[in-house]
Amino acid sequence: MTTLLKYIALLFFSASVINGSNICTSRGSTTCKQCLAVHPSCAWCFQEDFGKGRPSVSRCDLKQNLLNEGCNAAAVEFPSSTITIQKDTPLSDRASGATEDVTQIRPQKIHMTLRPGDSKFFTVSIKQVEDYPVDLYYLMDLSYSMKDDLFNLQTLGSKLAETMARTTSKLRMGFGAFVDKTTSPYMYMYPQEAIENPCMKINRQCKAQFGFKHVLSLTEQVARFTEEVKKQEVSRNRDSPEGGFDAIVQAVVCKDKIGWRSDASHLLVFTTDAKTHTALDGRIAGIVQPNDGKCYLDTNDLYNKTTVLDYPSIGLLMEKLSENNINLVFAVTDYVVPLYKEYSQLIPGTTVGMLSDDSGNVIQLIEEAYAKIRSKVELELLGLPDELSLSFNASCLKGEVIPGVKSCSELKIGDTVSFSVAAQLIGCPKEKSRTFTIKPRGFKDSLEVTVDFACSCNCEAKAEVNSPLCSNGNGTHECGICQCHHGRLGPRCECSVEDYKLSDDDNCVSKTSGRVCSGRGECLCGQCSCHPNDFGQVWGKYCECDDFNCPRFKGALCSGNGKCDCGICQCDAGWKGENCNCTTRTDTCLSSAGLLCSRLGYCECGVCQCTQPGAYGATCEKCPTCPDSCTIKKACVECQHFERGQYTTDDSCDRICKNEIRVVDELVLRDNAVNCSYKDENDCIVHFQYYEDLSGKSVLAVVKEPECPEGPDILVVLLAVAGAILLLGLVGLLIWKLLITIHDRREFAKFEEERTKARWDTANNPLYKGATSTFTNVAYQGN
Ligand SMILES: *[C@@H]1O[C@H](CO)[C@@H](O)[C@H](O)[C@H]1NC(C)=O
Ligand SMILES: *[C@@H]1O[C@H](CO)[C@@H](O)[C@H](O)[C@H]1NC(C)=O
Ligand SMILES: *[C@@H]1O[C@H](CO)[C@@H](O)[C@H](O)[C@H]1NC(C)=O
Ligand SMILES: *[C@@H]1O[C@H](CO)[C@@H](O)[C@H](O)[C@H]1NC(C)=O
Ligand SMILES: *[C@@H]1O[C@H](CO)[C@@H](O)[C@H](O)[C@H]1NC(C)=O
Repeated sequence: MTTLLKYIALLFFSASVINGSNICTSRGSTTCKQCLAVHPSCAWCFQEDFGKGRPSVSRCDLKQNLLNEGCNAAAVEFPSSTITIQKDTPLSDRASGATEDVTQIRPQKIHMTLRPGDSKFFTVSIKQVEDYPVDLYYLMDLSYSMKDDLFNLQTLGSKLAETMARTTSKLRMGFGAFVDKTTSPYMYMYPQEAIENPCMKINRQCKAQFGFKHVLSLTEQVARFTEEVKKQEVSRNRDSPEGGFDAIVQAVVCKDKIGWRSDASHLLVFTTDAKTHTALDGRIAGIVQPNDGKCYLDTNDLYNKTTVLDYPSIGLLMEKLSENNINLVFAVTDYVVPLYKEYSQLIPGTTVGMLSDDSGNVIQLIEEAYAKIRSKVELELLGLPDELSLSFNASCLKGEVIPGVKSCSELKIGDTVSFSVAAQLIGCPKEKSRTFTIKPRGFKDSLEVTVDFACSCNCEAKAEVNSPLCSNGNGTHECGICQCHHGRLGPRCECSVEDYKLSDDDNCVSKTSGRVCSGRGECLCGQCSCHPNDFGQVWGKYCECDDFNCPRFKGALCSGNGKCDCGICQCDAGWKGENCNCTTRTDTCLSSAGLLCSRLGYCECGVCQCTQPGAYGATCEKCPTCPDSCTIKKACVECQHFERGQYTTDDSCDRICKNEIRVVDELVLRDNAVNCSYKDENDCIVHFQYYEDLSGKSVLAVVKEPECPEGPDILVVLLAVAGAILLLGLVGLLIWKLLITIHDRREFAKFEEERTKARWDTANNPLYKGATSTFTNVAYQGN
């Protein structure tokens, strides 16, 4: 068992390789046939040396990829779906007077080749021609309760013909009758005479019971119809439901006896006033053999298996009616109308009309039913293989398309309707080709569609058994690969299961994971054979690579914008980033003025990131508080080029300034460039220019040498400073001197003034004090 598994696994290994991931490569198809079934776009390369030494190249891939990988165009197996219309006779206008066959459907024959999963479309047009021949077979219940109906019909024959002649000039009419199975409990068996005259109990005379009796084959002589109907007599049976369904089957399948024309509308008018027996009702009479839907009319035109076969099922009825293009009209009395309406739901193409108690309105009823039948076109499918799925859209009148519908109603004779049909192959049948039929229900005309199933490869025919390419005849070489015989393994069947040694497994142990084939494969003869994985492909010497373990974004592998290659997203053109979710487009970042993010930010993944404080908006177009652009860019030149300034101090340079710095000798004239200059901290004038290059990147071109003023002379400065100090000192002294002088003068003037004012004796020195001092002795009392 394990051997077999290994064998299968190694087979898989030989082809399970990858080149990026697409629907074709990701399924790991190991044979051409499998590859074709994956998807209609997949092709197989059967070139012998294809992908040699490149384990990630798959033989099953998109055709273009195979050619790109070096597969010769002649070695690519890529059947394509085709459709050809083989017979396309135009639709006829009228049936009468037509020399050729009347055509009511177009085209008539189609040939298709379909790849699994592929669809082809075609259109079918249908037109009901005018004056189309009509075959009308009147099937009548002749149980006792229909006595008055029979009487009426005897008089109605010619009127009916007259009415129908209004719609067709080629009417044929026929007649048949039924009662029920001629056995107990459906029939009166006792006394013996009751068999011959079932009406004896009610003291009447009537005909013996019968199952189904074909009376008149379809004929143009309407007089015969009346004549034959006149000869009929009612019978009598025991239970209420009648055996009408037996009669329907016989009337439908006994084509030769009844005389249905192949190119006519077939109306089978079924009149009854009672319920009907259906399949399995026969069991009460011990009849267990199912109805086989074959014709059993004996030489007397009597249904001679009525007591042998059970009643037919609704399914059988449906099948036989459709097979023989017969439109069944239930003309039944009001009490059973609901029941027959139910039947009519189950049997497509049938109509139900309410018969008056004496069948007086049967002509009107038939006329209406025929009009109803002719006002409806419904497609039916015969022999459709299960693997083929058909879908329809109807274009009935007024040109409107009704999807999913394969019928049109309320048509007038002469209207043309069309249906568009899509045929899709959803599997691969055993046969190579099948034919099925599409036809309007009740029409003889049909469209025959032959489908070739493009399920297998032509290269399979050239398979070489015991090929020398597969290790000296140890395998079959088919479509570029070896299908090894039992017990042999390897892409070239080079390895025999018997030779397998345990030590081989060492070759399969990866140093990084330390596991045999990274736990995702098996070691076969020293080679890793990676297991197929539901998620995708696994490959690599140690099965370490796959195409599904890559960063995802919003659930999509590589954001759906790249291929996963051994854990790394290989982004498609126009995308970048670890998970390929970042577009390289910048047009979304252009402001209305055509500036990238209005020059107040940078464009990342197609979205503006506004870096200038205060800037906002999808393209940073709004910024009420922004300084002018030179001032903004100045800060970036400072930090990006000179590595100084505010942004360097607070370490925000990389975040805010996403410019490319180019150092230039001098600025040049450029479209859309802005020249700026500013004085830096050294008093030098820095000139720069900013613009966006062709890829939309913001560039700052900075002139290499800032323009600095000549350095000042230190001595001059010193002297100037010293001189200035000296001068200031002198000036200070002078002022001081001046102030002192002024003060002194004022004081002197004051003194002079006071001196002149003084009244004291000029001889007396005001400062003089007499040399004698007189004191009074307080203790002296005059003695
Ligand atoms: C019934 O009719 C068929 C066809 O005419 C005939 O072959 C067969 O022998 C008849 N069987 C009986 C029981 O009469
Ligand atoms: C039917 O119409 C639908 C849309 O209206 C379209 O998608 C579909 O392909 C049509 N099918 C056919 C068979 O034309
Ligand atoms: C299979 O291959 C082996 C070794 O390559 C060779 O000896 C042997 O003959 C081959 N078997 C057949 C059936 O050719
Ligand atoms: C791309 O994916 C990363 C990681 O999941 C996410 O942070 C980033 O926002 C995504 N970028 C875009 C433009 O969606
Ligand atoms: C920018 O400077 C260059 C070189 O000096 C000059 O040719 C160009 O005209 C200037 N551009 C503007 C817009 O002043």
